[in-house]
Amino acid sequence: MRVVVAGASGDLGSRVARQVADRGHEVVPASRRTGVDLVSGDGLRETLEGADAVVNCADDPSRGDWVTVYGARRLADAAAAQGVHLVHISIVGIDDHPLTYYRRKLRAEQGIAAAGGPATVLRATQFHSLAAFFAQKLSVGPLTATIGEMAFQPVDTDWVAERLADLALGPRPTAYLRATDVAGPDVLTIGEIETLLRAHRGASAPHVVRLPPLGRTLRAFAERRNVPTPGEAQTGGRSFAEWVAAGEH
Ligand SMILES: NC(=O)c1ccc[n+]([C@@H]2O[C@H](COP(=O)([O-])OP(=O)(O)OC[C@H]3O[C@@H](n4cnc5c(N)ncnc54)[C@H](OP(=O)(O)O)[C@@H]3O)[C@@H](O)[C@H]2O)c1
Repeated sequence: MRVVVAGASGDLGSRVARQVADRGHEVVPASRRTGVDLVSGDGLRETLEGADAVVNCADDPSRGDWVTVYGARRLADAAAAQGVHLVHISIVGIDDHPLTYYRRKLRAEQGIAAAGGPATVLRATQFHSLAAFFAQKLSVGPLTATIGEMAFQPVDTDWVAERLADLALGPRPTAYLRATDVAGPDVLTIGEIETLLRAHRGASAPHVVRLPPLGRTLRAFAERRNVPTPGEAQTGGRSFAEWVAAGEH
């Protein structure tokens, strides 16, 4: 099969491209560095010609709606027009989450559904690297701040890439489809995440300071709206502890 990977130069996209190639299929990388711009539409139609599927891992949160919402819609319209199966990565728990980026991801999904072509949306929880980033941002010296009951169910990026490759190489849906959400094996508090990171470098566990959830966005994290309801998501991939032990952070 011929699979276009939008955002193939990025963290997730490069892993999807590797997965598809390792399974013996043709990968067509697509991003601005290969002359494909989802915002302007440059190079899009030509790149999709003869493709069986396109996996959308392209994004640029710093550009507001432009890539996340409008770029995804432009790609969905082009894929629908050419009968190419679009596989799109989204985020668990965005239906009722006030974080601006999550609201954009939800509008992107709605735009893809409205485009009307064969499309599969896969929602994943935060990647291990992002959970580690949050824990480090919330830590100063021996202290780690947490907000309410804030927690993550972080997932291995390689496993998400595997699932995206499975979907791109699998049967094409007849219309818009939401695949089963994916998450890592464990729900971890910020304190537990920071403890694992510190233990890896031989440091003792942090002193956790609990802060009140001020504002709607922090309240949503404090209420764990980013964590799937038990049993609702498919879980798999390396645990956060295994990922830390592998030294990939
Ligand atoms: N990090 C997480 O925890 C997490 C969790 C769930 C879902 N996700 C989703 O995973 C996706 C990928 O994230 P990532 O961290 O892999 O991103 P990334 O490393 O920042 O890669 C972004 C990619 O998008 C391309 N791109 C940016 N602007 C573009 C444009 N105008 N036209 C075409 N391509 C463009 C970039 O390549 P060029 O610069 O060459 O254009 C790059 O290849 C995002 O949609 C995110 O929402 C992330």
